[in-house]
Amino acid sequence: MFAGKTILTGVKPTGTPHLGNYLGAIKPAIELGQKAIAQGGKHYMFIADYHAINAEKDPAVLNQKMKEIACIYLAGGLDPKKSYFYRQSDIPEIPEITTILYAYTPKGFMNKAHAYKAAVDKNRAAGKPDDDGINMGLYTYPTLMAADILSYDTDVVPVGKDQVQHVEIARDIAGAINAHYEKELLRLPAYYVDDQVAVVPGIDGRKMSKSYGNVIPLFEDDKAIKKAIFSIKTDSRPMEEPKDPDEILVYEIYKSIATPEQLQEMGDGLRQGRLGYGHIKNMLLDAVINEVSAAREKYNYYMNHYDEVEAMLEEGAARARPAAQAVLKRLKDAVFGR
Ligand code: TRP
Repeated sequence: MFAGKTILTGVKPTGTPHLGNYLGAIKPAIELGQKAIAQGGKHYMFIADYHAINAEKDPAVLNQKMKEIACIYLAGGLDPKKSYFYRQSDIPEIPEITTILYAYTPKGFMNKAHAYKAAVDKNRAAGKPDDDGINMGLYTYPTLMAADILSYDTDVVPVGKDQVQHVEIARDIAGAINAHYEKELLRLPAYYVDDQVAVVPGIDGRKMSKSYGNVIPLFEDDKAIKKAIFSIKTDSRPMEEPKDPDEILVYEIYKSIATPEQLQEMGDGLRQGRLGYGHIKNMLLDAVINEVSAAREKYNYYMNHYDEVEAMLEEGAARARPAAQAVLKRLKDAVFGR
């Protein structure tokens, strides 16, 4: 389904990813890009740093988050020679295209965008004025995101459900411009939501999320990973008591990482009263360490040799820019009648 297609993925540099982000978002995004490339398509993968400054005003924090996110994608197997891997802020055509898109974007589109509406709702709930603390960057967020997508003649944007509306807005803006000029100036993007991707539960059973404080860390040492895994909630039933694996949180988390054979082994052991909670936690620990250790080594290498990463990002931007320049020229020629 991705044969010959241009796939574009954007990520915001938000905090240190954990196992849930890694298995649920980062790895699948890298694999999707690899699949597209293998089928003759293109894969653009960029870090949305202009989007990030709407919320993060501390340069040192932002810089640290940028480094982490760049190194995590490289550690996870993104090949910067095959994918176009760049920072949004290194492509000046993106804000230029954004400016043109503004002229064709009904203000109402921004009013109804989820991110803005959620911020307003939060203000109302706190008894504050609607627009308290809301900057224009947040308000116009979907137009910049539309430019990210449209700048590369993107066919498909893999996203989580929360971002579907933003891709639809990009499509609507592109459609309005094409209709006005009666030609296909901009390619209409489609979104792609992968329902197969695992939602990894956290150590308390809720979705794994930094804000819940229930994460299994990704690139910390084995001790930290062990500590998180051994604090996964269990009950006091003895080992010999046969258990339904589907009611056991350790097993649920194991599902997102184990091979079918490994999963079968844990499931049988629980059903037959052969495996206790200590055993299955150790099995999970082994699987997690096995999954992350190679990536962790790469991650640490890149964090300690960040100049190499910086050079990759600059090269990625240089390779990616011509496509955005072509789209900008097409747009300028049309809107200014050149
Ligand atoms: N809005 C996306 C998020 O919050 C990040 C993003 C910015 C993006 N521009 C994009 C995603 C373009 C896909 C395409 O996760």
